[in-house]
Amino acid sequence: MLRRMHPDGPERRHPYDLGHAIRTGHKPPRLDFERAPIPIVPVTDFRPRVRPATEDHGRERRLSTRRWARPLTCQAGSQDRGNPMKVLVTGGTSGLGLAMASALAATGATVALTGRSGERAESVAAGLPGATGVEMDVRDESSVARAVDRAWSRLGGIDMLVNNAGIGMRTVNPRFMTQPQGFWEVPSDAFRAVIDTNLTGYFLVAREITPRMLASGGGRIVNISINHSTMRRAGFVPYGPSRAGSEALSRIMAADLRGTGVTVNLLLPGGATVTGMLPQDVVAPEGHRFLRPAVMDPPIVWLASDDAAGVHDERIVATEFEQWLRDWESRQ
Ligand SMILES: NC(=O)c1ccc[n+]([C@@H]2O[C@H](COP(=O)([O-])OP(=O)(O)OC[C@H]3O[C@@H](n4cnc5c(N)ncnc54)[C@H](OP(=O)(O)O)[C@@H]3O)[C@@H](O)[C@H]2O)c1
Repeated sequence: MLRRMHPDGPERRHPYDLGHAIRTGHKPPRLDFERAPIPIVPVTDFRPRVRPATEDHGRERRLSTRRWARPLTCQAGSQDRGNPMKVLVTGGTSGLGLAMASALAATGATVALTGRSGERAESVAAGLPGATGVEMDVRDESSVARAVDRAWSRLGGIDMLVNNAGIGMRTVNPRFMTQPQGFWEVPSDAFRAVIDTNLTGYFLVAREITPRMLASGGGRIVNISINHSTMRRAGFVPYGPSRAGSEALSRIMAADLRGTGVTVNLLLPGGATVTGMLPQDVVAPEGHRFLRPAVMDPPIVWLASDDAAGVHDERIVATEFEQWLRDWESRQ
């Protein structure tokens, strides 16, 4: 069952898989359930700009990367001051990872994005300015070590890690949105696969990179998370616990690294987002709409900017980013 539903299988390609759109040059088809068309921006033309972000409470917000769209460069005090920020995005071949890699590359960062297939990662990276693709299976310690080494030498260091690679409930129960399963029905190998990827994966990549960041005087780690309500939702074993674990891991990483120059923050979209994790035929519940991956652009670009140099141990919800930023600025 696991093998049949493996994300590398033919059902892996989702209509909103931008990696596929890049490779084929075609717009993915519009999802049946969408009442309004979702514009798919070809990544080669991608520029951070004011774009509407829908959130699942139906309110429309306008989020913008314009404020931070000046080239992302290493901060004052860094040995690399003035050079482009060097960012590693795990799971950058589709969904949120690709959106964040695209936004970062478009604002001047040098990006390495990873996926389980090196070929796929390279072909997706080829569509982003100055980006490179690296093979990395986050479940495999030696693959992680090789990939970090490769990314470090290709980029000339890593200033920021975005821990994003993950698999969702779709790999365990294809109908998880409409026919949730009790935890007792979850096969143990499916449980382990999600924990290995989503929790152990974040740990292995951060463990590999942190000593290098410490030795080079600092760095930033952003761990992608989910809503707290999803961590506890019926039918969400093992995805919910895997991300509850990675959120706890992130908080402990932040405590361990306080005062070292390596910062750790959590970032989440703030609702279900149209990526490879959602079944193709899923219908948004009445009165709700799914988010688009671009909701992550403004906060991730800001987290890589000079303004966010000392930001540490924060939990940023992308749909609430503007309000969060106003509150954060008023606390400074
Ligand atoms: N979609 C949502 O509603 C939502 C909401 C909140 C948070 N998130 C989080 O967002 C993150 C990204 O997910 P997504 O929604 O963007 O899904 P997605 O489109 O399926 O993307 C998942 C990414 O992870 C990579 N990946 C999966 N297993 C991997 C492994 N063993 N080693 C390395 N890379 C691996 C995939 O690359 P390859 O297939 O090329 O290997 C792909 O690039 C996840 O951490 C998820 O928990 C998602």
